[in-house]
This record gives sequence, C-alpha cells and structure tokens, in this order.
Amino acid sequence: MTMTRLYTIDDLDKTTVQTDIKETLKQGKNVVFPTETVYGIGANAISKAGIDNIYKIKGRPSDNPLIMHLVDSNALSTYVHVEQDYINKLIERFWPGPLTMVFKKKPIVPDYFTGGLKTVGVRIPGSEVARKIIEIAGVPICAPSANISGRPSATLFKHVVEDFNNKIDILIDGGKSEVGLESTVLDVTGKVPVILRPGMITYEMIKGVTGEVYISNESFKDESPKSPGMKYKHYAPNGELVIVEGDNEKVIEFINKQTILHQKTGRRVGVITPNEYKNQFTSPFVYDIGSLSNELEVASNVFAALRDMDENAMDYIYTLSFSEGQYSEAIMNRLLKAANKNIVKV
Ligand code: TXA
Ligand code: MG
Repeated sequence: MTMTRLYTIDDLDKTTVQTDIKETLKQGKNVVFPTETVYGIGANAISKAGIDNIYKIKGRPSDNPLIMHLVDSNALSTYVHVEQDYINKLIERFWPGPLTMVFKKKPIVPDYFTGGLKTVGVRIPGSEVARKIIEIAGVPICAPSANISGRPSATLFKHVVEDFNNKIDILIDGGKSEVGLESTVLDVTGKVPVILRPGMITYEMIKGVTGEVYISNESFKDESPKSPGMKYKHYAPNGELVIVEGDNEKVIEFINKQTILHQKTGRRVGVITPNEYKNQFTSPFVYDIGSLSNELEVASNVFAALRDMDENAMDYIYTLSFSEGQYSEAIMNRLLKAANKNIVKV
C-alpha cells in the first residue's frame, strides 16, 4: 500500500511540496493532477518505471499510447517532426488548451511511451496548475486520464480519491475540471488533419484554421484503429446505460414506463437529464446535468453523472440524448461509448 499525500493548489507554492513532486516523478512514481479537461495521472515521460506503473495501476492495455504534456511549444521539435504548414496556425490558435496533436515521433521518444507506434500525441494544457506541475517536474509529463481503465474519467477530486487513494503517491486537488471532457485528439501527420477523438476544440473550429479536416470513423472497429484508445470499452458505469432519443414527451414517457417496470423487480433506476426536464421523471434518482442553454456545463458534468449513478448503485440508467449544439459530437461520443451504443429511438 502506498502512503498517499494529498495536496491543494495552494500547497504548490511550498518548496517542500515542489521537491516532493519533483522527487516522486524522478523516482518513477506518479502524481495525479488537475488539467482543464480531466484529471491526469502524471509520470516522467522518459521514465520507464513511471510509465509501467501507470499501465499497471490503471489496468490499461499496453498498446494504448500516452499523451506527452509540455509546458510550452519551445521544445516541441525536440520530440516530434512538425511537418505540415497548418500546424503552427493550430498551435497559435489552440495551445495552451484542450487539443492533442499526433505527430511523427523522433527517436528520443521511447517505444514504450507510444505502445510501439511511430507517432506520439502532444498537448500543452490550458490549466495553469497543470503547466506548473510540468514546470516543477522539469521534464515532459505523460498523463492519461486519471481513472481506472474502463471507468468514467475523473472530473472531481473525489473521483480521483475513489480510484487512487493508497495506490498513487501524490494526489493534487484542483476542484472541478472546467472542460470535463478529454482533449480533442487530432492527427497532424498528413496534408489534411484528422480528428481521432472529438472534444471541445470542434471540427468547425479546426476547419476555420486549416480549411479542411477529416473525422475518423474508426471508433468501435476491432481492427487496429488509428487511435488505439478507441477500441476499448470506455467510461462504462456499472449499471446498464441506455440513451433514449426522440421527441421529448415520448422520451420522458418511455423512461417513466421503464422505471415502473424495473422497480417492480426491485431494480434501481437512475435518470440523467437536463435541468429543463428534471421534474418530469418518476424515478427518485434524477441527475440534473445542467441547462440545455449552457452546453459547456452539460459537457463538464457528463462523467460526474455517470459516476454518481455508480455511487448510488443504479441497475439501470437512462439518459436523454444530447445531439444538438456545437459540443454534441464530443458529448455523444462519450455517452455512446459508456452505453456501448445502447440507444433506443422512441
Ligand atoms: O484531456 C486529455 O487529453 C487528458 C488529460 C489528462 O490531458 N488525457 C487523456 O489521456 O485523455 P488518455 O491517455 O486517457 O487518452 C489519450 C487518447 C487515447 O484514446 C489514445 O489512444 C490516443 O489519445 N492517442 C495517444 N497517442 C496516440 C497516437 N500516437 N496516435 C493515435 N492516438 C493516440
Ligand atoms: Mg482515458
């Protein structure tokens, strides 16, 4: 068992705490820290021990590569080949921020970092706290989302404690993640960039800079997808999650009917709904994910909603669909994975 140290953001100004973080990472151990997207488990990106530990503690499949986090773009070309003209425009517009770019790697990036791939994802987090951690470390930091593999990503500090207390040396409390969904992953190795994972840097935003952009359809295919992370079951709550799509009135009626059916057999039914409809459900477990007029709020609560359903031991979870608005791609990508594509149209 590891004796976990819990720190707050204010602690990061203390020299003793800075030394603890630096030494811990240097020794090939891990630090969980907040970013603007979700919490990440950090390791020294060039420490095999640190990286092995992450795979072990997360239970992450070893062919799923990690993202390298840098403090700024100055050292970018030390690690990767920056080949396309549009890349600098993307850097200028979106870094620091929730965009990961996948480049051809240079030999300095070890194969165990990339799961054997010739490419590597790099991101400069928008969160000042995250950048401060990287600065304290003095080395690039790899940081997959801080959740046990398969569980919803952590967007609240209590999620981090749930998954990693007594397993990881240092956990840093940064409060609620502002964005709440992981970064957009964009392959920038070709003439036209390709979105591998949708996020808050949307198709339209990227297109506005590069003129052209493709979207990868590879999620859920079994044969070696371009972004290895896409093939695994993700974000899944323990209960059975169903997305219900259709006319609002019908959706609500359907969910209420299902609730009665399941309650008859003693099952617990939870509902994830926007604020606007929360009073229309008969289930006693309704999670208000935020107002439809504030898409950012909805996005930032998706993972917390799923984890809350587990906390309350729901057997069945019904969620409304969020297929409108500029972040719908990112939100529905996570919900569809969590539901294993279990979607009912009414
Ligand atoms: O917002 C984020 O990106 C968070 C925070 C902590 O920075 N990190 C994160 O890391 O979500 P992770 O490891 O949970 O997700 C990384 C995703 C995976 O789906 C992985 O397969 C993909 O990026 N990826 C990483 N390197 C890649 C590469 N070289 N080529 C294609 N996909 C890659
Ligand atoms: Mg993840």
